[in-house]
Amino acid sequence: MPSVIVVGGGVVGATIARELALAGARVRLLDARAPGDGATRASAGMLVPYIEGHPSSPLRELGRESLDLYDDFIVRLRRDSRSDIVYERCGTLEVALTQEGAEKLSAASGTLWREGVEARWVPAAIIPDLEPNVTPEAQGGLFIPQHGFVGVASLTAAAVAAAEARGAEVMVETGVLGIRRLPDGGVEVRTATDSWEADACVMAAGSWSSRIAVEGADPVPVTPIRGQLLQLSAPRGLLTRVIWGPAGYLVPWPDGSVLAGATVEDVGFDEGTTQEGRHDLMEMAVALVPALENASISDVRAGLRPRAPDDLPIIGRSKVVPGLVYATGHYRSGVLLAPLTAELVRRLVLDQSASTLPVLDPQRCGNL
Ligand code: GLY
Repeated sequence: MPSVIVVGGGVVGATIARELALAGARVRLLDARAPGDGATRASAGMLVPYIEGHPSSPLRELGRESLDLYDDFIVRLRRDSRSDIVYERCGTLEVALTQEGAEKLSAASGTLWREGVEARWVPAAIIPDLEPNVTPEAQGGLFIPQHGFVGVASLTAAAVAAAEARGAEVMVETGVLGIRRLPDGGVEVRTATDSWEADACVMAAGSWSSRIAVEGADPVPVTPIRGQLLQLSAPRGLLTRVIWGPAGYLVPWPDGSVLAGATVEDVGFDEGTTQEGRHDLMEMAVALVPALENASISDVRAGLRPRAPDDLPIIGRSKVVPGLVYATGHYRSGVLLAPLTAELVRRLVLDQSASTLPVLDPQRCGNL
């Protein structure tokens, strides 16, 4: 079995490390900080392919495939790591606040039914039966029962633990600067002070992938897009489903708090939180659920989503460095797509006859 270096221990890299270690590969997972400390830390764990993946986007089909893997993925992770992982398939209620928005959601429910997805149009008069605390201003909603959310910190920790249990070595504060091809076809991965050789390498460093120099290749064109997230102290039982609105979403966390996300900001590598972000998210939250007006903010987090020029992930083999596989650019869907990404990467690393999906091919983004 090959030796593989996975660069980046966010939800995507950790899930890949686990998958490869379970398949028997000798895995080394390197993270510039510690696993889960990048964008993963600020994720609300949304599993919502039929909201975030538009009908014409390949994300819809990729999201559907990955969501189908989730139940089994979580069962195995819980078993292997003996840890609890927050995982709720409670459904989403997407709420329209205008008549035009309501018409769009009603049309979307028809499109989803034709795709075979259970999606119920909820007229305004029925919304209080489903979610009594949603604003009376709602003009209607779309209920998609199979959607949900996952606790990404616990998921990532469990994936790392499962990888380690299969012999993976995890190295923290190990920021990779460069990757190059070795004459024997393997790869060398170097930091400021060290270097390692392996048969293969997976670049899963999210937004930071653009800063890792691959000899002979273009930088990965991923842009960091900041997302700020609030945790609100709220009366227990305020919501039973994820509430999605035109400007953000609310997640009923099992401890009774509500997560309110998320901003979408192009501010470079600034991982700070802002007063404006807090204000906009509170405004969004209260517009959807007026009872949150006096909720206190117990935590604010921010993370950098890695966005590729066409908003699709970059998953596939390098044409420049044989042995290098890219798994980055997941933008808003890293958590949802983690199990599918891990499967695709396992095939690409362990089966030379496996091919890159054209729609995810790194070469669409330059000389990669
Ligand atoms: N997928 C949720 C977000 O990007 O905010």
